[in-house]
Amino acid sequence: MGGRFDPESTHKNVEEENYKIIRELLHPDERSALQIKDIGSTTFIHLIDELFGEQASRSGYITISYFRPGFSGSYLFRIDVDIGKKKKPYLMKVNNDEKIKIEFDNYEKVHKILSPENYPQPTENYVNYGKWGAFGIDIQQRMITLSDYLCLGELEGNHNMITNLGKVLSQLYKNTSGIPTRLWKEYYQFSSKINLQLLAFFEDKKTLLQEFTEKEKIEELENFVFTNGKNLRSNYENRYTIYVGNIHGDLNARNVLVYPESKQIVLIDYANMDVMGHLTRDIAKLETDLIFSVLHSNSKKFYDWNSIAIWEAVLNLLDLKNIFNFNFKITTSDTEIEKISNFIVVLRKSLKEDIYPHLSVGEYLNSLLYYSFNYLVYPDISIQKKVFGTKWLSQIITQLKNVSAKT
Ligand SMILES: Nc1ncnc2c1ncn2[C@@H]1O[C@H](COP(=O)(O)OP(=O)(O)O)[C@@H](O)[C@H]1O
Ligand SMILES: [Mg+2]
Repeated sequence: MGGRFDPESTHKNVEEENYKIIRELLHPDERSALQIKDIGSTTFIHLIDELFGEQASRSGYITISYFRPGFSGSYLFRIDVDIGKKKKPYLMKVNNDEKIKIEFDNYEKVHKILSPENYPQPTENYVNYGKWGAFGIDIQQRMITLSDYLCLGELEGNHNMITNLGKVLSQLYKNTSGIPTRLWKEYYQFSSKINLQLLAFFEDKKTLLQEFTEKEKIEELENFVFTNGKNLRSNYENRYTIYVGNIHGDLNARNVLVYPESKQIVLIDYANMDVMGHLTRDIAKLETDLIFSVLHSNSKKFYDWNSIAIWEAVLNLLDLKNIFNFNFKITTSDTEIEKISNFIVVLRKSLKEDIYPHLSVGEYLNSLLYYSFNYLVYPDISIQKKVFGTKWLSQIITQLKNVSAKT
């Protein structure tokens, strides 16, 4: 290069210098090192300095390790700070500046609404550098996700846990108000992105789907997607008085943390909080997550074509007479199906009796319909579960026709 100034190579040198500092001072494990390289060492060191203080980060008081992320695309790091009394682990979330700022700002709202024991305490500051943003939250050390909790096979105390969840959600939703609306049209239409993904799904899998579900039913689902719900005319036009409030917005089984002993609940991941959300959304999303994502996810049954017939037992949850029948029990030879469906019955009971007494069957079905369609395009759901999902969706549509016929 003959000593000429080359901004490209100076940038590289700075990156390498900073990477050395990070390696020597913060001891990242291999996976967090990969994440750091992707973010850029200069950016990373800036974010850490700002968030935890240069004094701590440059004196060897901080260790960094990998933390398994969810599906939002954030990088997660476990940050152990070890100065004097301040010995505790944080989770640092790093993502696109705008995305992560919204999530941090939502914590300020949550702080005004929820009791401190029901959400993780965030760091005082949010920091950004270039296109990246970051903040930290306290790690709840003895808690596990609801997803893992249900896989443990425990049944004792589930009622208590759901009661606790209901209390947290009720707190979050306070100051709700009733709004007359055409529900699907105004609240549930698919975004263009999901719409396109769903159209591609039905196009690609048409022949396969028809091996398991009648052709007419598959075509009806495809047509529903194609018209964004208009073909189900009675439902599209139906007016409901719905209640809206400040909902969590992404209540999947990995965003609910549980203390296995006390059944206390902590809700995490407020990136999608919606101050005017339909009050059925959180529980309907959680129910859909349990059916599509949690049920049999730790076994080869998740990928077994024979499971589709076994999963049909849960379709009984969609019978109009069962939607709010809280004595309803599914009995099959599969204990996991029984456990999950009984859990769902209690979730619905909590929603209807403790959180949202105005709730109607049609409203809940609209919410289920929306989230169930969404799971057809999630990459981590097996194709077998998605094929079953078309049966589940078709059943929801049938019931929605029955609801409109009645009113
Ligand atoms: N405060 C916390 N304490 C313990 N585990 C946590 C905490 N926050 C997140 N986790 C774990 O990390 C996962 C991903 O965190 P989350 O904030 O949901 O990120 P994402 O936006 O990627 O879904 C969670 O599903 C949970 O298992
Ligand atoms: Mg999450």
